[in-house]
Amino acid sequence: MSRPLYVAPIGAHHLDVVAELNDREVPRVSHLGPDGLRALLPVCDLGVVATDGAGAVAGFVLAIAPGAPYESVNYRWFDARGDDFLYVDRVVVAATHRRRRVATKLYDAVVARARATARDRVTCEVNIRPTNDASLAMHRDRGFVEVGRQDTTGGTLTVALLSLDVTGPV
Ligand SMILES: CC(C)(COP(=O)(O)OP(=O)(O)OC[C@H]1O[C@@H](n2cnc3c(N)ncnc32)[C@H](O)[C@@H]1OP(=O)(O)O)[C@@H](O)C(=O)NCCC(=O)NCCS
Repeated sequence: MSRPLYVAPIGAHHLDVVAELNDREVPRVSHLGPDGLRALLPVCDLGVVATDGAGAVAGFVLAIAPGAPYESVNYRWFDARGDDFLYVDRVVVAATHRRRRVATKLYDAVVARARATARDRVTCEVNIRPTNDASLAMHRDRGFVEVGRQDTTGGTLTVALLSLDVTGPV
C-alpha cells in the first residue's frame, strides 16, 4: 500500500536533518553540513523536503536555475551550453524510505517548477565512476538521457550529465 507523502519548502527546522541525510551519502553527493546548506539554499530556485505521514523527512531535493552564483563544475557545464534548464544539484532519499517513489515525487516537484518557470529541460549529473546504479536507474525510469560526461574532483570521479526535456504535454 502506498503511504502519504507531503512536499514542502525546506525550512529552518529541517536544516540539521537534511544536512545529515546529505552528508551520509558522500561521494554520491558532495558534503554540505548545516552551514553549507544554509548558504546554498538562497542560491536554489527550489529546495523541498518530502515528509511521511509521521512527519519524518523522507528525502529532499535542491534545484538551481541558470545564471546562479554557483561554482559546481557540473552546474557550470550546463550553464556554459546556454541551455534553459533547471539543474538538480542533489536529491537524497533516506535509506529507510527508498523504492517507495519518494524521489519520483520530489522530481514531480522539480518538473512542475521547471514548467512553471518555462524552462526547457531538467538537468543533473550522476556518478558513473564509481557507478551509482540506483540513481542511474531512477533517472532512466524518469526518462533522462545522457548528454555528456566529465571527470570531476581531481579526476577521482566521472559523472554522466543527464537531461530531461519538459517541453512536451504534461
Ligand atoms: C537514487 C535515489 C534518490 C532513488 O530514490 P527512491 O525514492 O528510492 O527512488 P524511487 O522509489 O522514486 O524509484 C523510482 C524508480 O527508479 C528505479 N530505481 C530506484 N532505485 C533503484 C534501485 N536501487 N535499483 C534499481 N532501480 C531503482 C526503479 O525503476 C524505481 O521504480 P520501482 O521501484 O517502481 O521499480 C536513492 O536511492 C538515494 O537517495 N540514493 C543515495 C543518494 C543518491 O545517490 N542521490 C542521487 C545522486 S545523483
